[in-house]
Amino acid sequence: MTSLADAATRVPDTRFDRLPPMLSSMWRLCKLGYRHEPRLMLWAFVLSQLAVLPDALMAVWLMLLGKGVLEHRSGLVLASAIGLGVSAAATWFLRTVSTRVQRRFRDKVTIALESHVARLQATVGTIAHHERPDYLDRLSMLRDQVFVLDHMYMSLFSTLGWILRLVVTVALLVSIHPALILLAVCALPTVITSAWRPGVERAIFEKAAQPNRLARHLFTVATTAPPGKEVRVTGIGPSLVTQRRQAWEFGFKPIAAVRWRSAMWHTLAWAFFGAAYVGAIVFVSSGLGAPAGSVLLVLAAGARLSAYIGATVSEIGFLRGFWADGSRRLAWLEDYAASFVAAADLPVPSVLRRGIRLDHVSFAYPGTTRLVLDDVTLSLEPNSVVAIVGENGAGKSTLVKVLAKMYEPSSGAIFVDDQPLARMRADEWRERLAGAFQDFFRFEFRAQQTVGLGDVPRVDDTPAVVAAIGRAGADDVVTRLTAGLQTQLGPTWPGGVDVSFGQWQKLALARGFMRDGPLLLVLDEPTAALDAETEHALFERYASAAQGTSGDGRVTILVSHRFSTVRMADRIIVMDGAKVVEMGTHDELIAKKGQYSELYGIQAAAYR
Ligand SMILES: Nc1ncnc2c1ncn2[C@@H]1O[C@H](COP(=O)(O)OP(=O)(O)OP(=O)(O)O)[C@@H](O)[C@H]1O
Ligand SMILES: [Mg+2]
Repeated sequence: MTSLADAATRVPDTRFDRLPPMLSSMWRLCKLGYRHEPRLMLWAFVLSQLAVLPDALMAVWLMLLGKGVLEHRSGLVLASAIGLGVSAAATWFLRTVSTRVQRRFRDKVTIALESHVARLQATVGTIAHHERPDYLDRLSMLRDQVFVLDHMYMSLFSTLGWILRLVVTVALLVSIHPALILLAVCALPTVITSAWRPGVERAIFEKAAQPNRLARHLFTVATTAPPGKEVRVTGIGPSLVTQRRQAWEFGFKPIAAVRWRSAMWHTLAWAFFGAAYVGAIVFVSSGLGAPAGSVLLVLAAGARLSAYIGATVSEIGFLRGFWADGSRRLAWLEDYAASFVAAADLPVPSVLRRGIRLDHVSFAYPGTTRLVLDDVTLSLEPNSVVAIVGENGAGKSTLVKVLAKMYEPSSGAIFVDDQPLARMRADEWRERLAGAFQDFFRFEFRAQQTVGLGDVPRVDDTPAVVAAIGRAGADDVVTRLTAGLQTQLGPTWPGGVDVSFGQWQKLALARGFMRDGPLLLVLDEPTAALDAETEHALFERYASAAQGTSGDGRVTILVSHRFSTVRMADRIIVMDGAKVVEMGTHDELIAKKGQYSELYGIQAAAYR
């Protein structure tokens, strides 16, 4: 049980720096597949193993056939020929059926895995993982791999199938002379190099993930519409191309070098096995003076042994490399997502009675050391409007994001009605959170959905959407749309229209007003593109709503650079260089003649 004090002093979390172990991750992926498609998975497994036996017995039929021919025993020749035919037909038949079943299983399990990954990503409470380069690399690789994770099951089944063939073949060889088991031993170097290769190649791939991501990013910048204008005006197009090429080469060179080196070791190992195979045949034919049938069996089984070992190791290579790797990433994401749910054992209060309190909160963005919030202690009273002002980069938006639980503080704690926010579930907290962020997203859907998304259960509730649009003062945006609320937004979609930046911002603001009864309403410069008067009028409305009758004790946070808007807040927080430097009402701060009154004076003078 974590105490309040524990929540206040959080050490950097290193639990998720490493990927979980390979075998347990693969086992988890197996269980996942079984949970979704138990019958298909079982059938796919059984059929893939059954298909093995007739194939492995081919060497026996060959031996018998040779024996029959040499000893002129036509009965034996006939029987072994029939055996060969039946084996070949059974191999073909079982393989066809099992391929069909496998394909069906894979199609189904792929869909299950994709939605599983999407769901996991959505349950991760904070967005810190979007900013840690190592996590980002993992996630981007997992996103690429999830479409092929279904191969892992097949790869696993066929590995087992190859091992079964190997066992049968080794048993046949040993039946001629126990020393022949050495042939299998001589194949061990190939197994070792095959097992070792994908590991080192993967490691170097992971190292190259960052230059590759950079190359992809540069490609997107150079070729997509949003950056297009700036790319042309600045004329950086050609240099983007060179940089992309450099990034790609930087990523690829070490990969190529490692591949060459590992390929050389692999070739040596195979050459060693080849020599042993020749030795074994000489040993059986000259050394033992064994009958021709036995030599034939060694020829057939030995040749197959090399093929089987080759197939087993390359399949294990696949398993260890790509598939195991993908399953480890998936297991990591499962653990990471689960840690957010597990740590959250407190409910979010339904009504704020004592408000929200920040207690010595410090914060640095993931992967950086500079404090963007430095020992911030504040209390936000219920039913109040709090304005945050400060220069660009002072940490205003960061404070808002930490309050929205997009990040956990690096140290210190946030309390909601005296309960630590760290122990509440992010999704539950956000259900009671509304508002608009500075870096809003342009959801290119129909206007109704673009706004309605702010409260998903009510996305089709037109009156609610209309009301939110009214609250955001975005009616004029909608009336100008050709098909009103049903207009498709985004010029790249059929019938889609583009709207101006300010109009997008108003729609984002309307989306922020979809939720009724939030405990925390954040407005992080959502009206920066609007004129000062409109902003003032809008905020006046929210302020009166917030200070008035909302029975839930809502705290409204307002970030703005316009002092005409800010002055009507109940309390004003002045931030400078990651710290809170002043706090109070407009009149108090003016009387104090500090930073606020100075900045206010400058703006007021500019308007006179
Ligand atoms: N995702 C991020 N990763 C690393 N540093 C960041 C990130 N976002 C912001 N910062 C840094 O944190 C500091 C505070 O940024 P923040 O966005 O909170 O400022 P702000 O007060 O909202 O500024 P503005 O008035 O321009 O919106 C800045 O110095 C910025 O460089
Ligand atoms: Mg900001």
